[in-house]
Amino acid sequence: MSDDLLRYRSEFPILDRTTYLISNSLGAMPRAVYDAMKGYADIWATRGVRAWEERWWMLAVEIGDEIGALMNAPKGTVSVHQNVTTCQAVVASCLDFSGKRNKVVYSDMNFPSVMYFWEAQQSRGARVHMVKTDDGVTVPLDRLLDAIDETTLLVPISHVIFRSAFIQDAKAIIEKAHKVGAMVVLDTFQSLGTVPVDVQALNTDFACGGVLKWLCGGPGVGYLYVRDDLGRKLEPKLTGWFAHENSFAFAPGAIRYADPPFRFMNGTTHIPALEAARPGLKIISEVGVEKIREKSKRQTSRLIASANQHGWRVNTPRDPEKRGGPVSSDMPDAQEVCRELLKRDIMVDYRPKAGVRMSPHFYNTDEEVERGISAVEEILKERAVVAR
Ligand SMILES: Cc1ncc(COP(=O)(O)O)c(C=O)c1O
Repeated sequence: MSDDLLRYRSEFPILDRTTYLISNSLGAMPRAVYDAMKGYADIWATRGVRAWEERWWMLAVEIGDEIGALMNAPKGTVSVHQNVTTCQAVVASCLDFSGKRNKVVYSDMNFPSVMYFWEAQQSRGARVHMVKTDDGVTVPLDRLLDAIDETTLLVPISHVIFRSAFIQDAKAIIEKAHKVGAMVVLDTFQSLGTVPVDVQALNTDFACGGVLKWLCGGPGVGYLYVRDDLGRKLEPKLTGWFAHENSFAFAPGAIRYADPPFRFMNGTTHIPALEAARPGLKIISEVGVEKIREKSKRQTSRLIASANQHGWRVNTPRDPEKRGGPVSSDMPDAQEVCRELLKRDIMVDYRPKAGVRMSPHFYNTDEEVERGISAVEEILKERAVVAR
């Protein structure tokens, strides 16, 4: 079967060396990152402090806009930070938990770092309501919607659940939140780059994520979208001189906020990580998320069918419309199997209560997907012989 996305394979050096099925964790590095890093060093070495004016000061805004374009965010609505946890902290710093509206609703399928952060906000007056999963794969929508009431301030949820790839009904959650006057932070870390995201169509208040997985952008860049009307009103208390309307006045005293996206920044930006992120963003935007999604549905269906055939427990929705990029399947001794796969240069990961996660991206061949499955089969056979 012809697959025109495979023409990008040569852009990713690691694909020559491994069976790379782990883009849910760290996307493959584009070859162009070598040049980007060299360019960064050259500019620093030759332009010195002038680099700020000539390139670096606006880099955060440019990268924010490039990420924003992938989720239909208007220009100037996305600020960049180090990671998702920091993005949540920026949002939390805009909020007041001292009134009656102080409830924070999410599910136990959120990424743990996000949970740890919101649990910790209880000392600031936040009242956390955590909705529990029944099956370890999905989040019960009815119970989540019921928990969002007139006292709810914020609903920080994942668009795609990291453990199971379940796609939450973000639209229904956002609509309910707005009906009762609450706001939503949609964590699109596991969706953007593999599942279409349109922040304007969803009418979400905030969206956040990072570039290191499906966007092939490397560690160190998280993004925060704030809906334009909100963005001009909110006053983050986690702030700093980059957020000042006139940073170079170095004025003493309280902050006078700039317009977004600078308004949501704080201290000096993370230039090397921003430079490294660019090649991946360019490729993803060139390939197009719709095409990536089509291929992902096909390859993940194949993974699920093979796992079923072998009798492994699939901890990912079977309906392609309800699942994102990874497939989690649990087999006997899954953690050991994962270690063995890594030794054979088949890059996957293991998560408790999920099993082995395999995540083909647009650059993977169907043969690689098959190789992942047949290697598990082989390992299980070898282990069975040893155990005899
Ligand atoms: C849905 C989701 N949110 C957040 C994170 C990570 O958060 P942070 O960027 O704070 O490390 C991950 C995974 O690494 C994730 O899968």
